Amino acid sequence: MYSKIHVPLGKASYDIIVGPGLLTELPAYLNKLQASTGYVIVTDSTVADLLGEDLLKMLTDAGFKTGLACFQAGEASKHMDTVVTLARDLVRLGADRQTCLIALGGGVVGDVTGFLASIYMRGIPFIQIPTTLLAQVDSSVGGKTGVDLPEGKNLLGTFNQPCMVLADIGVLGTLPASEIRNGIAEVVKYAAIRDLPLFHLLEQKAQDILALEPDNLIEIVTRSCQNKADVVAADEKESGLRRILNFGHTVGHAIETASNYSIFHGEAISMGMCVAAELSVQKRLLTGDNANRLKGLLKSFGLPVIIPASIATPERLAMLTKSDKKARAGRVHFVLLKDLGETFITADVSDKELCMAIETNAR
Ligand SMILES: NC(=O)c1ccc[n+]([C@@H]2O[C@H](COP(=O)([O-])OP(=O)(O)OC[C@H]3O[C@@H](n4cnc5c(N)ncnc54)[C@H](O)[C@@H]3O)[C@@H](O)[C@H]2O)c1
Repeated sequence: MYSKIHVPLGKASYDIIVGPGLLTELPAYLNKLQASTGYVIVTDSTVADLLGEDLLKMLTDAGFKTGLACFQAGEASKHMDTVVTLARDLVRLGADRQTCLIALGGGVVGDVTGFLASIYMRGIPFIQIPTTLLAQVDSSVGGKTGVDLPEGKNLLGTFNQPCMVLADIGVLGTLPASEIRNGIAEVVKYAAIRDLPLFHLLEQKAQDILALEPDNLIEIVTRSCQNKADVVAADEKESGLRRILNFGHTVGHAIETASNYSIFHGEAISMGMCVAAELSVQKRLLTGDNANRLKGLLKSFGLPVIIPASIATPERLAMLTKSDKKARAGRVHFVLLKDLGETFITADVSDKELCMAIETNAR
């Protein structure tokens, strides 16, 4: 019922464990890992109520010196003030250079905690216990940490690898359906860029996955982590291969910005993947049938494939792609598909081509 993925990064190597009921086994994992003698669980207000308080009691009962630090749930908390407040909480809790942080929550908790761990007393270890599907399949793996600035998302941050990731699929039951879809968009992304068997599985098991059937959940979380781990191990600091993980994100980020972040990241990425697929068809890399298969798959998970006209004109979206922080030397690199499961990166996309592809996917 469990699966283990090793992320080989030399001294920063770590394991990702995926399975049901892992939270209850945390004391055993901590004993094995021996990362520290003292722990502080960092979590948000929602997850503290759902899981944090119980975990604190369980670890304390098991004899671990443990504290809990909590901040208000939501992306709005992902800023420097939260990091400073949490750091002061750590001091108050007696955390020292031997303390290990436990990031218990979604991507916001993971990003904030990883960042805090990289700067508190010049760096302390941390463990990721992701509790949203997005965090389990994406943000807890790869070591990117950080917080937002008013000028943009994730503008302050570090690369800092956790010493372990425990993805307990049992905790996903309390997530709203919208948060499940949000994570599924990233799973579809891995399938489209490098994992055709995962694409087939998603096509066949959409309903079971949406019903959170454990075996299928374990399979998609494991495969997603394996895909991300493979890419990250080959390119830890995003100088080459890791860029394929941006499939759908260039236009997706433009859609998120234009919507003033009023739509889910996964929804924006879903529309962005459709535009990237359309560009791939225009460039005669991908067949129209395969682009339609990708759209059909996204639709089967309730993800949007058409950009509502109310968000922005194609011209404005095309303009916004240029301010994407991943544009290199002012040139926007697009991750396209050569086939389902195979990518092609190019900066050779004119504004006209991009607008045409957006228009084909807009209402
Ligand atoms: N570091 C990376 O590589 C990376 C990758 C992708 C995204 N991210 C970041 O991740 C963040 C988004 O993550 P997210 O979508 O997990 O959002 P989130 O952390 O805000 O979680 C979404 C909501 O779900 C709640 N929640 C968490 N677990 C729950 C559970 N088990 N049951 C019920 N509710 C639960 C949270 O309290 C929150 O209200 C963004 O800030 C994004 O920039 C980082």
